[in-house]
Amino acid sequence: MASKPPADAVREAEELRAELRRHNHLYHVEARPEIGDAEYDRMFRRLQTLEAEHPELASADSPTQRVGAPPQDAFETVEHVAPLLSLDSSEKPEDVARFDERVRKALGEGVEPVYILEPKLDGASIELVYVDGVLARAVTRGDGRRGEGVTENIRTIRSVPLRLRTDVRPAPAVLSLRGEVLMYIPDFADFNQSLIESGREPYASPRNSAAGAIRQLDSRVTASRKLDVLVFDVLAVEGASFATDTDGVQAIRDWGFRVPERIETASSVDEICAYHAAYESERDELDYEIDGVVIKLDDLAARRAMGATSHHPRWALAYKFAPRQEITVIEKIDVQVGRTGVLTPVAWLRPVVVGGVTVARASLHNREELKRKDLREHDTVRIQRAGDVIPQVVEVVEPGEDRSPPFEMPSVCPVCGTEVHEDGPRLVCPNRFGCAAQLKGRLVHFGSRRALDIEGLGEETANLLVERGLVHRLAELYDLEPEQLTELDGFAEKSATALVEAIRSTRKPDLRRFLIALGIPEVGVTVARTLAERFGSFAAIRDATPEALTEVDGIGPRMSEAITGFFADERNTEAIDALLSRGVEPQTVDVPDEELPDLGTVVFTGTIPVARVVAETAWRRVGGKTSGSVSKKTAFVVAGENAGSKLEKAERLGVEVLGFEDFRARLAEHGGSLEEA
Ligand code: IVH
Repeated sequence: MASKPPADAVREAEELRAELRRHNHLYHVEARPEIGDAEYDRMFRRLQTLEAEHPELASADSPTQRVGAPPQDAFETVEHVAPLLSLDSSEKPEDVARFDERVRKALGEGVEPVYILEPKLDGASIELVYVDGVLARAVTRGDGRRGEGVTENIRTIRSVPLRLRTDVRPAPAVLSLRGEVLMYIPDFADFNQSLIESGREPYASPRNSAAGAIRQLDSRVTASRKLDVLVFDVLAVEGASFATDTDGVQAIRDWGFRVPERIETASSVDEICAYHAAYESERDELDYEIDGVVIKLDDLAARRAMGATSHHPRWALAYKFAPRQEITVIEKIDVQVGRTGVLTPVAWLRPVVVGGVTVARASLHNREELKRKDLREHDTVRIQRAGDVIPQVVEVVEPGEDRSPPFEMPSVCPVCGTEVHEDGPRLVCPNRFGCAAQLKGRLVHFGSRRALDIEGLGEETANLLVERGLVHRLAELYDLEPEQLTELDGFAEKSATALVEAIRSTRKPDLRRFLIALGIPEVGVTVARTLAERFGSFAAIRDATPEALTEVDGIGPRMSEAITGFFADERNTEAIDALLSRGVEPQTVDVPDEELPDLGTVVFTGTIPVARVVAETAWRRVGGKTSGSVSKKTAFVVAGENAGSKLEKAERLGVEVLGFEDFRARLAEHGGSLEEA
């Protein structure tokens, strides 16, 4: 079919591309989609069909060209358009004062410097080059002069425009931008978990994981990782010029990129320190890693006048946070058994404060990792904490004098005594339904935030419930009565009733959350959502054949086998039937034909009078979205009692704040109610 495509096919493809680009930007950059996934998919598939029917229509900047290309043998070395300098950095406020003095001296008397303040994103540095408005290449930092061409990989990241937006300003002939590739902490945690569960080595930090993802020779692998790119600097531009960094950042926005949050200006050391302190105190609540703030002179002519050393510009400084690594001693190594039966070696540490949090234990992942790092009791070690992620032992700093012999993993489960099986580098207790440790793990997972979000069902409570013989299987959670709980340590009447109510309020769970709660291998947040949307009901998923599962986008043969295998296991079936027979009714999801209107993203904070999952589900049912963190894009925040930093953040960003009753009213306006949810 090498003939010239008919004019109407050309026009249709162009229209589809423009629409898909617009919706892609709304979704991935602005976080305010106008259409749902189904409608997007429909247009996307139509464009794919057109391009397949008329290969001459294909073009490298088509939205269909993001799925990954066949593997390469090696990356090409590519020269940067302009060098990617590094930043001078310090943790000391004195150095900030010294920097400010030098800048003032360079500007001359009577000139107040204007500084731009930004978070220092802890990801992988990248150069993006656009020629005539089309993404021409993406290059890693390398040695600052040349790096590796990873264009195919970067194309798979949806927040990177393949073609610049030109509705506000034209595309320059050549544009080189600098940004940071990030993996968000929750995605990193999920990804690492899946690596650990399949016996592979986890990444040490979201940064390493992002850097690893963009250096995959097979871009389909990159496409399967969740990445984002934030752009903060115009490195070079032909055919346009800017007077200030502020103008440059505005242009970056106009061309369709995401930029860092909370870019501010300052003129004094005090203001810089206040910004630094505010960001540092919020560090644990961000869903990406930052390791400091960057201070840059806004005036680009002044920048040129100040110049650079061979390594870093004189007009910028990274004001870093206190490191989240510390040195401590391993007091003891023992083994814990998780909900899937995997035995994990754990280091008990001499407690040490790392970036404001006391750390007393760290996961050692698996026996190979233990052997590789040669960690032993009494060794002095370096540990690190990254975001939400479990603290890790990085390395031995000094072997202990009375160092114990290498730690041997047990041959039987330390909790139930069953002989363990080997599964690659992992050891697994096969006693899935008889091992108390696995039951405890299942209870905690069932009630975790991502699953049914049962407040009060943490590790301690799960331990008590199992050890006191109140719960022998998951479903028995729903049989608990407050009187049984008040007999346990730490439960008063009020907390006992609250827990029982929290459990019972999950009797009509959101299908996605229910799927996550069951702990089906391979089924995390994304797969659960896909399954729920494609199959609509729990019964349909439970009965799905492997063929029907693999037909769904994003579900491969390994996943489909894991899912059908889970439902084929009689003990799982019994456990599920026990839940259903207690009145647990996963809610069906309408497989969407027609999309609901987008009502925006809501964040709940503080204590609200219903389970959070109920409120969230109710809002999503009327077409809204929910999130755990506040940003400028948040439609409004619902603040319950004792709301803390999220409320403050909303106020600072000027995001609307509602009380719970106002939320109830707003919900009713859109035809929703909490009862239905
Ligand atoms: S400005 C020469 N701004 O930090 C100045 N860099 O050593 C241009 N980084 O890997 C860089 N966040 O990629 C700047 N908001 C930010 C940044 C940032 C992260 C990275 C940069 C480089 C390192 C500096």
